[in-house]
Amino acid sequence: MLSDLDQIRQKALHALESIQDETSLEAFRIAYLGRSSPLMQVFDQLGKLAREERPAIGRRANEVKQALEAAFSTRSDTLRQAALLRSLQTERLDVTLPGRVLPLGRLHPATISLRAIVRAFADMGFQVYRSPEVETDEYNFGLLNMPPDHPARDMWDTFYTSMPEVSLRPHTSPGQIHVMRQYAPEPIRAILPGMCYRYEQINARKETQFNQLEVLAVGKNITLGDLKGTVSDFARRLFGQNIRTRFRASYFPFTEPSAEYDFECLLCNGKGCTVCAWTGWLEIGGCGMVHPIVLQNGGYDPAKFSGFAAGLGTERIMMLKHRIEDIRYFWSNDLRFLEQF
Ligand code: PHE
Repeated sequence: MLSDLDQIRQKALHALESIQDETSLEAFRIAYLGRSSPLMQVFDQLGKLAREERPAIGRRANEVKQALEAAFSTRSDTLRQAALLRSLQTERLDVTLPGRVLPLGRLHPATISLRAIVRAFADMGFQVYRSPEVETDEYNFGLLNMPPDHPARDMWDTFYTSMPEVSLRPHTSPGQIHVMRQYAPEPIRAILPGMCYRYEQINARKETQFNQLEVLAVGKNITLGDLKGTVSDFARRLFGQNIRTRFRASYFPFTEPSAEYDFECLLCNGKGCTVCAWTGWLEIGGCGMVHPIVLQNGGYDPAKFSGFAAGLGTERIMMLKHRIEDIRYFWSNDLRFLEQF
């Protein structure tokens, strides 16, 4: 029995030497240290041996078992080390190389401009209201006091859709009707920003898409003075205390009286330059007192309520502030332009 055990040990250690991979190592473990291995059978048979033989054989069996286990774990470590070394050599990874920097996004100049404008109006108590970019003829024109064939429709070059009577909005003014119909007879102080579309011959000043911001206040005793005060205050909040504003009489079918308002040229401080065509003033937008018919269409009794409205081009403000000479830069997606803001 003792010599059997020595033989087992010898055979096992010899077999172990030639093992080169994890699979044969596992096969070795099952063959020499597993439940039905010859070594384990010796342990099973200990009980059947003569009393005096048992201690010596038991001791030797344990020695062999410990020796095999030790050799097994040494071999296992060696194999793992070798595998690690191999993968380090073949799958080289240089962790000292600098990483690739992801380009960071930024706000579009139109958004920067819009946010500044919204902040100025929000500070004066105006709330942002969203209205659709696709409207019916009725909202775009009819309810704004321009029945079909009204000549004033020529002021807005419109994109019609294949659906009759449906067009992209050429201005944010139809939003006036939406807000009024939602809030009548409550007082309103709202701004409506958003994209507008016009069928235009594109040039440095005109694009087929652009952002507008509608300003609307409806309530009791709202006067032209409130309109002028609000527009002038807006100019000061955006461009500083010293900026001057002026109003020129104009015509819109949905306001009466109507005006266009100018800000003192920001580039020459009113002295006259190429941007303001030597007038010292820059045209910002249209405005006026909401027409009684429009108030009525919105659900307000014009005998009791009055209101003012104004519209401004938000890209325009950005152009003035940064001396951008061509509106086409805004939507042409040229990073050399966009990255300057
Ligand atoms: N909607 C007009 C335009 O696009 C501007 C405007 C708004 C005029 C509100 C008066 C009142 O030209």
